[in-house]
Amino acid sequence: MASSINYHCLAYAALDVCNPLDMATVDAAVTRTGLRPGARALDIGTGNGAIAVRLAEHFGLDVTAVERDPAMAAIARGRVDASPAAGLVNLRQAGSGTVLADIAPLDLIVATGTTDPVGDGRLEPSAILDALSGHLKPGGWLLWGDLIWNAEPPVPVRQIFEAVNRFTTHEGTHEAARAAGYEVVTAGISPRAAMDHYIGTADRQARAWLADHPDAPETAVVRASADRVKIMFEYGGDYVDFGLYLLRKPPI
Ligand SMILES: C[S@@+](CC[C@H](N)C(=O)[O-])C[C@H]1O[C@@H](n2cnc3c(N)ncnc32)[C@H](O)[C@@H]1O
Repeated sequence: MASSINYHCLAYAALDVCNPLDMATVDAAVTRTGLRPGARALDIGTGNGAIAVRLAEHFGLDVTAVERDPAMAAIARGRVDASPAAGLVNLRQAGSGTVLADIAPLDLIVATGTTDPVGDGRLEPSAILDALSGHLKPGGWLLWGDLIWNAEPPVPVRQIFEAVNRFTTHEGTHEAARAAGYEVVTAGISPRAAMDHYIGTADRQARAWLADHPDAPETAVVRASADRVKIMFEYGGDYVDFGLYLLRKPPI
């Protein structure tokens, strides 16, 4: 049975958005789409479910939320069930590939900080943006957020960040979006304080749990993840920002 404790669960349970991003910025982007209640949205890699719940509660969207980590999906389940808009959120604990395989074209896809949004192992932003476009209606929207390089990193920094994912630059994201046929409607970079809050909160949560659970079966794994993230951002944090992009597939 999967453990109900891992580093990301500890970190994300204490955050609203599980990224260097605040909900007001997400709200502004979704407001910009002009989507009406009942429009269909997919939140890929919903994490703690906060964005999916917001899309339903604040915008009245009909939301499918997918999360592959069972422990994280359990946290999202708690948030969804506690929401007055729970009936609008279909939370699926699955890899996104399973959901994308049989979902009808969408009005909005949200993928913020999701390692493998298409669910088939493709990691290059250009390939991901291209694939997600195929799941949008004409005129549909993609709200895409991820780490971006703000300068060429030293090789070891690139290696440690790209051990699990690939990133591009702010300009690279624009180019990838245009190459995949999107209009870049808004593009913004989170303030440094958002990055500091995100990394600091995650680290504090993990260290507090480790101090309280020195002998738990998950202790070694949680410590290894916390140490890896800490090292990544201590040595490489100056080279990364978080970008949020509202992209539109052209109407026919
Ligand atoms: C950094 S968290 C971000 C959560 C949320 N999008 C937010 O911004 O608050 C990324 C989440 O995506 C999930 N994830 C990554 N790839 C996935 C996939 N192919 N299918 C479903 N979930 C995925 C991870 O398990 C993790 O919980």
